Amino acid sequence: MKIRKAVIPVAGLGTRFLPYTKAIPKEMLPIMDLPVIHFIVEEAVNSGINEILLITSKDKKCIEDYFRPNKKLENFLKLRNKKECLQQLRRVPDNFKLYSVIQKEPKGLGHAILLSEKFVNGEYFTVFLPDDLIFSEKPVIKQMLEIFAKYKKPVVAIEKIERKKISSYGIIKPKKVCNGIYDILDIIEKPPIEKAFSNFGIVGRYILPPEIFKYIRKQKTNIKKEIQLTDSLKELININGILGYEFEGVRCDTGDKTEYMLAIFRYASIKKELTKRFKKEIKKMFRI
Ligand code: UTP
Repeated sequence: MKIRKAVIPVAGLGTRFLPYTKAIPKEMLPIMDLPVIHFIVEEAVNSGINEILLITSKDKKCIEDYFRPNKKLENFLKLRNKKECLQQLRRVPDNFKLYSVIQKEPKGLGHAILLSEKFVNGEYFTVFLPDDLIFSEKPVIKQMLEIFAKYKKPVVAIEKIERKKISSYGIIKPKKVCNGIYDILDIIEKPPIEKAFSNFGIVGRYILPPEIFKYIRKQKTNIKKEIQLTDSLKELININGILGYEFEGVRCDTGDKTEYMLAIFRYASIKKELTKRFKKEIKKMFRI
C-alpha cells in the first residue's frame, strides 16, 4: 500500500505572530531565503509524496503562488542571462500536484482535516503541521512511512516534551514495542502536568487511515467552537491501534518566536552561513 498523498492545513490565524500574520501567513516566514512551507513540501516530495492538498484560507493565496511557475520572471532572468538567480528559483519543488481547499473559518485542526476527505479518496494519507520544521538526514515522514510499511498501522510522530510545555501538547500513554516505537494506549489533550500519562507529546506528522473522517464527523465542537483531532485519534486507537514514533531529527516549532529564531540559526549553520563576523557580533551582543 503506497502512500502518495499529503494534507497540509495552513488555515489557522497564526495569532502568536501578530501583527506580521495580519498580512502574511506564518507559513511564509523566512528561514533565511526559504519560507517555512518550502521545507515542509520538500520533506513530503523527498519522501515519495506526489499529491499535496493545502487546507487554506482565502487570505493565503501567496502560499500557492510560491509553488506555481512564474514564466514571466523566468523569461526575464533568461533574457538577462542571470543563471545564478534562475538556479535559486529552481530550488522550489515542482515535481508534485498541488491542490487546495478553502476552510472558510478556522474551526480547528479536526475540521480542517475533514475538508480533505474527497482528496484522500479512501486511501491512507499523511498530514503535516507546517509549524513543525524538522531538520533530519532522512525526511521524518519517510522514516514514518517505513514504520507504516512494516506494521501496517497509523503512525504519529512523538517527542519527549519538556515539563513546562506538557500542557500545550496531546500527551500519549505509551507501551514500548521496540526502540523508538510505542503502541499508543491513550491520549490526553493539553493536560495539566499531574494528569499527563508520560512526557511523550504528539507533534506535527501523522499517517492516518481514511476511517479518521468518520470519527471527526462524530466530534462536537469544543468551548472555542473548534473540532480538535485528538478525540478522533483516541477512537482510532480502539479500532486500528496507533503507533507513536520517536523520530530522528531536531524539531523547531516555528509558530513559537524563540524556536523560529533557532530554526534560522540551525539552517544557517547547516548551510555554513554563520560567518565569523556573525558569530563575533552575536558573542558581543550577548556578552558570551
Ligand atoms: P495552531 O494551533 O498552531 O493554530 O494550528 P494557528 O492558528 O495556526 O496558530 P496560533 O496558535 O494562533 O499562533 C496547527 C495547524 O493547523 C492549522 C494551522 O494553520 C496550523 O498549521 N489549522 C488550525 C487550520 O488549518 N485550521 C484551523 O481551523 C486550525
